[in-house]
Amino acid sequence: RIDARESLFIVNEFSKSHFSENLFESNEGKSVGMSYFKERGFYESTIKKFGLGYAVRDRSDLYEALKSKQYNIEVATKLGVVKENRDFFNARVMFSIHNLSGKVIGFGGRTLSKEKKIPKYINSPESEIYNKRKTLYGLYHAKNDIRKKDECILVEGYTDVITLHQSGLENVVAASGTSLTEDQIRLIKRYSPNIKVLFDGDNAGVKAALRGMDMILAQDMNVKLVLLPEGEDPDSYLKKVGVDQFRTYAETEAKDFIQFKTEMLMAETANDPIQKSIAVKSIIESISKIPDTLKRSLYIKQYSSILELDESILHRESNELIKGEM
Ligand code: GTP
Ligand code: MN
Ligand code: MN
Ligand code: MN
Ligand code: MN
Repeated sequence: RIDARESLFIVNEFSKSHFSENLFESNEGKSVGMSYFKERGFYESTIKKFGLGYAVRDRSDLYEALKSKQYNIEVATKLGVVKENRDFFNARVMFSIHNLSGKVIGFGGRTLSKEKKIPKYINSPESEIYNKRKTLYGLYHAKNDIRKKDECILVEGYTDVITLHQSGLENVVAASGTSLTEDQIRLIKRYSPNIKVLFDGDNAGVKAALRGMDMILAQDMNVKLVLLPEGEDPDSYLKKVGVDQFRTYAETEAKDFIQFKTEMLMAETANDPIQKSIAVKSIIESISKIPDTLKRSLYIKQYSSILELDESILHRESNELIKGEM
C-alpha cells in the first residue's frame, strides 16, 4: 500500500509529466508554450532539467487524464492541481517546484496573456507536502554549487533562477513571491553562511532588499546586496549584457548590507539632526542584530566615522537595543 504522503508526490509527478507532454507534444503546447520558452532563450535541456511544462486552455485536460489513469481526484484536489473538478492551471507555462530531494511539491504557472486583470503567476496552494515558507525555488539544483562556492545567490523570480543556472551560475535560488522567511534563511545556512541578494532594479526591489535582511544578520550570516540597473532583473540583465559582464557586475557592485543601508538612508537625510537620528537608529538596529560581538564591534568602529558619531554613543545605543531584546 502507498501511504497518503507518497500518493501526493505520485499525483504531482504525473501532473508534471502531463504538463511536459503538453509542452513537447501537443499542438497548442508546441505553438504557444514551447515558442514562449524558446523566445526567452531556454534550451531544451534546461526545460527538462527544471521540469517546465504547459497547461492547455481546456480546463478538463489534466482532470480527465488523471481520471482515465485512475488517479485519486481527492488527492489532486488536496494538491491544488484540480479545483472543483476542473484544472486549476490553464493557458499557462508551468514551473515545477521541487523539494530538497528533487520531488515535485507544487507548481507555479505563468500566464502568457498581457491582460492586466490576470495575475502573472499563480501557484499551487500549500499542502501536506508544500510549505511555502520552508521552500526555496531552485535549491534542489543549487545546493551543491552553494556549498562549493560557499555563497548563495538569492533572486526574486523563477525565470531569474533558470536563466542564471543555464548560464553556469548554479548557486542561485528564489523565495518566489513570498517575502523571505527565517526558515528559508536557515535552509541556506545548511550550505553556506554567505548570501548575495540580487534584487530587481525597481522600487519593489529596493524595498524587498531592505526587508528580511536583519533576519539574515540575526542568524549570523553575511549579506551582500546587488541592486540591478533600473528596469532590469537578473534574467533580463544577463540576457542583455552576457554572462561575463553579469558576473563582473554582481561582483563589483555587491555591497555589504550595512553599507547599502547606510548609503541609502544617508542619501535621503538632509543635514537635519532629527532625520539623521532616525536613520542612525535604524542602522544601529541592523548592526545590533549581529550576534557575534567582535563582528558587531568592528561594524560600530567603521560606521562611527562614516556617521560622524562617537563609537561610545553607537555602542550605548546598540547595547540598549540588545538588552531590550533579551
Ligand atoms: P517574468 O516576467 O516571467 O520574467 O517573471 P519575474 O520572475 O521577473 O516576475 P516579477 O519580477 O514580476 O516577480 C518575481 C516573482 O514574484 C515571480 O517569479 C513570482 O514568483 C512572483 N510573482 C510575480 N507576480 C505574481 C503574481 O501575480 N502572483 C503571485 N502569487 N506571485 C507573483
Ligand atoms: Mn500566487
Ligand atoms: Mn520585480
Ligand atoms: Mn523577469
Ligand atoms: Mn523580475
